[in-house]
Amino acid sequence: MKKERIFMLVFAILLASLALVSCGGADAPEAAESSSGYQTVSLTDEGRSCVECHATETHGIVSDWDGSRHADEGISCIDCHEVDADSPMALSGVEGHEDLTVTVSMLVAPATCGECHEDAVSEFHASGHERAAIQYEEKDSMQALIHVHEGRENDELSGASDETGCQQCHGVTIEVDDTGHPTAETYPSAGIGNIYPTGEIGNCTVCHSRHSFDIAESRKPEACGGCHIGPDHPDIEIFENTKHGQIFMAEGEEWTWDSPSGEWEPGDYRAPTCATCHMSGIGDLETTHNVTQRLYWNLWAKTSKVRTEDDPMEMFAGDGVAGRAEMEQVCGECHTTTHTKNYFASGDKAVELYNVEYWTPVEAMRVELADAGLLKDNPWEDGFMILHYHIWHHDGRRARQGAMMGAPDWAHWHGFFMLQQKLNLATAIYETRMETGEIETAAPWSLAP
Ligand code: HEC
Ligand code: HEC
Ligand code: HEC
Ligand code: HEC
Ligand code: HEC
Ligand code: HEC
Ligand code: HEC
Ligand code: HEC
Repeated sequence: MKKERIFMLVFAILLASLALVSCGGADAPEAAESSSGYQTVSLTDEGRSCVECHATETHGIVSDWDGSRHADEGISCIDCHEVDADSPMALSGVEGHEDLTVTVSMLVAPATCGECHEDAVSEFHASGHERAAIQYEEKDSMQALIHVHEGRENDELSGASDETGCQQCHGVTIEVDDTGHPTAETYPSAGIGNIYPTGEIGNCTVCHSRHSFDIAESRKPEACGGCHIGPDHPDIEIFENTKHGQIFMAEGEEWTWDSPSGEWEPGDYRAPTCATCHMSGIGDLETTHNVTQRLYWNLWAKTSKVRTEDDPMEMFAGDGVAGRAEMEQVCGECHTTTHTKNYFASGDKAVELYNVEYWTPVEAMRVELADAGLLKDNPWEDGFMILHYHIWHHDGRRARQGAMMGAPDWAHWHGFFMLQQKLNLATAIYETRMETGEIETAAPWSLAP
């Protein structure tokens, strides 16, 4: 009964959209719709069967696919979902799949996209996004934070903060059961560095959500903002605080977002978005899926240094000098050399100020306190260590990223202003401990940063 009603509704919507398409007139692509109204004419019978059955089972998926470049190009569900019968991801026991003659998986790793989009995939693998899940799954201190401190060592529940938090940005090692279905602990995961049962790494759907896989979506700041947000890397908030973000918010809706790659240029837009500066082609500069390529510093590390490492698993991955030259090329499409050089001179000065006047002294105090046995075992209960962490991980990143991306509120009020307050407080705790030879017993709330 319910299904019939949905089907009638779908059918009515389809008739309406068909009418719209035919109004499109001469510009509309050559009609490739079957009697179902979806773009299935160029598909095999098997490909058509997925579309037709899934149009009732998972309508949203088929409708997104139908509006995509993939459907226009005759790329079917099978092109992405077919796997070898012996793949660990091969599905079995799906009700409705009894008559399929191909083996399908629920999971689609980037290697599959790479069969048609080789450059995007290899550039992704060379970027810092590649290490997003591996690096924290491997670190004992991160696992302790999740399971011991946040998870309170609860045998059953301690994974929750990872499953609903870290993993949804960073990714996870996806595990499957013997029917090829992923487990509840590891799926769904919207993280960028997912590790598939085949060992393949990455997630293309974070910026091009399935099943529309749209270029326009990925060029808007929202594509990055779900992860690049919050107290420790507020890049979306930073962007909104810049002149560029202000112009984007005022008039971005009217800009042209869907130009083909390599042809999206000033004129289509007036101000850059995250993608323009970090990924898109502009002028002579080519598009890249390696977000590390145009960076000079590492701005999340405890001490910022210029990037010099080849391996994307390394902290200082990238070629900072070449990266700066490319970033300057981006600015140079809209600003003069003087504007750009002066801007980076001030930004670099802010990064050095953090390195020299904040990180260096607070780290020196930590070493002395550790040598003197004046730190608690649990750093998350130790007033000095909480401030030490914030100086690097929260306020210090905000100051550096705010300064380098032109966001005065983040460079100053959320950045250097908070840094000086926390350094003063950390220094007072350090001096008291060194004088008394004891860890203070002040009320814990008085230490709140
Ligand atoms: C006769 C109907 C039918 C056909 C044909 C069909 N599917 Fe399905 N498919 C289903 C149903 C029903 C589900 C389960 C939906 C649910 O759990 O909500 C499903 C689930 C899936 C899943 C997710 C696996 C899961 O267990 O949740 C994928 C991926 C999938 N189908 C892909 C395909 C592909 C690719 C084709 C074509 C080769 C295809 N399907 C053909 C009915 C069909
Ligand atoms: C361009 C590649 C591509 C095409 C074409 C494609 N898919 Fe997918 N599909 C994906 C990716 C990527 C995922 C996410 C899988 C993951 O997380 O590993 C996915 C996930 C799914 C899921 C599970 C997601 C959920 O939200 O439950 C189903 C079901 C599915 N696809 C069905 C289809 C059907 C039906 C078609 C054809 C109409 C289709 N797909 C076409 C790439 C594709
Ligand atoms: C069988 C070949 C094939 C596979 C597999 C494939 N694509 Fe595509 N894709 C195409 C073709 C063809 C186009 C249209 C021409 C172009 O833009 O390159 C396209 C276009 C795109 C676009 C640009 C869309 C736009 O709005 O202009 C994106 C993004 C994309 N694909 C992402 C993916 C992702 C992500 C995957 C894997 C989940 C994938 N593709 C798998 C063939 C494929
Ligand atoms: C699904 C979450 C997610 C999305 C969406 C996302 N990122 Fe990231 N990004 C991450 C994570 C996690 C890291 C940290 C990787 C690591 O070092 O573990 C990161 C790191 C980075 C870095 C630093 C790389 C390095 O080598 O240190 C840059 C630059 C970056 N992202 C830019 C972008 C841009 C631009 C977009 C949008 C076009 C974007 N990201 C979208 C999660 C995401
Ligand atoms: C809202 C999304 C998000 C959540 C939730 C999140 N992270 Fe991150 N994380 C990021 C982004 C984005 C970066 C990159 C920051 C940059 O480039 O400046 C990052 C950077 C990192 C880094 C430094 C990069 C490296 O290669 O060492 C570590 C470690 C890290 N996160 C661990 C974690 C852990 C552990 C959790 C959960 C306890 C977590 N993150 C939760 C988005 C997130
Ligand atoms: C961090 C965000 C992000 C991720 C992750 C991402 N893309 Fe993209 N992608 C973009 C942006 C931004 C563009 C538009 C670049 C431009 O303006 O030319 C793009 C463009 C594309 C295009 C069209 C241009 C071209 O190169 O042919 C394809 C195809 C594509 N991406 C495929 C992929 C595949 C495959 C993956 C997974 C490896 C992927 N993308 C992951 C942001 C992303
Ligand atoms: C006007 C160009 C521009 C725009 C727009 C822009 N960025 Fe940046 N971004 C930069 C520059 C410049 C740096 C500093 C690079 C350097 O010199 O190291 C940077 C640094 C970063 C970093 C720090 C990487 C690290 O080492 O920790 C991340 C993450 C990042 N940007 C993400 C984003 C996101 C997400 C957006 C959109 C919400 C965005 N950026 C918008 C130019 C831009
Ligand atoms: C697509 C063109 C475009 C690109 C690319 C671009 N900007 Fe801008 N930028 C603008 C516009 C437009 C304004 C607003 C000018 C105004 O306030 O009248 C602006 C304003 C600024 C401002 C505020 C100060 C001022 O002059 O108004 C700074 C700082 C800035 N840009 C830095 C950069 C840097 C650094 C880069 C490269 C990393 C960059 N921009 C790339 C268009 C661009």
